[in-house]
Parts: sequence; structure tokens; C-alpha cells
Amino acid sequence: MGLAIKHLIFLVIAVLVASTEGKKPKFTHVEFYMHDIVGGPNPTAVRVAGRSNFSSPDPIAAMFGSIFVIDNPLTASPDLNSTLTGRAQGIYAMSSQHNEFSLLMTLTYNFVSGPYNGSSFSIVGQNPVMREVREMPIIGGTGMFRLARGYALAKTYSMNQMDAVIGYNVTLIHY
Ligand SMILES: *[C@@H]1O[C@H](CO)[C@@H](O)[C@H](O)[C@H]1NC(C)=O
Ligand SMILES: *[C@@H]1O[C@H](CO)[C@@H](O)[C@H](O)[C@H]1NC(C)=O
Ligand SMILES: *[C@@H]1O[C@H](CO)[C@@H](O)[C@H](O)[C@H]1NC(C)=O
Ligand SMILES: *[C@@H]1O[C@H](CO)[C@@H](O)[C@H](O)[C@H]1NC(C)=O
Repeated sequence: MGLAIKHLIFLVIAVLVASTEGKKPKFTHVEFYMHDIVGGPNPTAVRVAGRSNFSSPDPIAAMFGSIFVIDNPLTASPDLNSTLTGRAQGIYAMSSQHNEFSLLMTLTYNFVSGPYNGSSFSIVGQNPVMREVREMPIIGGTGMFRLARGYALAKTYSMNQMDAVIGYNVTLIHY
């Protein structure tokens, strides 16, 4: 390899390193409560499709294949009337046939107030809802959370029949 080419490669590497160096990753920790309201006159999570088989004696097998579209409020405290911080919109599907209830979550969490207003992050991952704490991957974001990655820890705060309040602890790395 000629000396000139070696110098050129070195220069290109140096420029690449310099251009990413200025952008240190930021860590943001966010907590909120999500209200998944399935029953009553104003549900925020509605079953739109699926092949429920209620003649199956196993409730997990009976619900397998159900698909829900949701527009769930996110609030600062577990009280539904507390400050609205955002909305979680998207789809989840009952994706487990045996052993335990599990959802495939494909959701975008949009902030509508507070320091992250206008920004969002997205989750795609498995959610075995009966476990105490579920970890889900964050696969991207917008606004402040552009290029985000990270993880969410979700823990059921309360259950009333099918309606649930879920506490979220979210750790985001972004630029
Ligand atoms: C529904 O469940 C019952 C009982 O397990 C089973 O016999 C039947 O084949 C299932 N139907 C479908 C469409 O899967
Ligand atoms: C929330 O507000 C609505 C309407 O203002 C009221 O009917 C309801 O009781 C409140 N719920 C709680 C838990 O405070
Ligand atoms: C959030 O941002 C929107 C649009 O950028 C703005 O209209 C709204 O007033 C903001 N809300 C709060 C509570 O800051
Ligand atoms: C976040 O995690 C802490 C520590 O485990 C816990 O005390 C808190 O209740 C969690 N927040 C939510 C919203 O669940």
C-alpha cells in the first residue's frame, strides 16, 4: 500500500472519530404510570381481531391470537386524574399459547407535557404480563430521544378485573 493511501485512510479515520466525539450519550430516566382500560364505557385498549377460543379450558390458549389497539394515558402518579404526561399508542398481541400470558408489544410512548413534551420512544418486545417485573427493549425515539436505545422495566401497580395500572421505569441513552 502506498504511503499516500495509508495517510488518507488515517485521515478518514481521524475525521470519523472527531465527528462522533463531540456527541456524548445522555442518560435519561423517566417514570410514569400507564392506564390500560379494557372494560367500561370508555376503553383505551380495544380488541380488534383474533381467534379467541373460549371453549378451551386453558385461559392462555383461549386468548392466544387476540390483537388489541391501544391509546393509553400515561400519568405522573397512579391516579388517572393526575397530570397527563403522555399517551402510549400502538398494538399488542396475545402471543403465547402455553405456560404464561405474554404480549408482543409494538408501542410508541409519546410525551405531551413536561420536559419531554413532543418527544417519543418506541418499544418492541415480549411482555409476560403476570411476572412481577417485565423488561422490554427500547428500539428508537424521536425529538429529544432521537437515536434512543435503552430498556423499560414495567411493574403492575394495580389490577381491577382486566383494567391495569402499570408503573414504568425507563432508562434511555440518546444524543
Ligand atoms: C378450541 O378449544 C377446544 C378445547 O381445547 C378444542 O377442542 C378446539 O379444537 C379448539 N378450537 C379451535 C378452533 O382451535
Ligand atoms: C377523576 O375525575 C373524574 C371527573 O372529574 C371523576 O368523576 C372521578 O371520580 C375522578 N377519579 C378519581 C380516582 O379521583
Ligand atoms: C406540548 O407541546 C405542544 C406542541 O409543541 C404545545 O402545543 C403544548 O402546549 C405543550 N404542552 C405542554 C403542557 O407544555
Ligand atoms: C421504579 O423503580 C423503583 C425502584 O424499584 C420503584 O420504587 C418505583 O415504584 C418504580 N416506579 C414505577 C413508576 O413503577
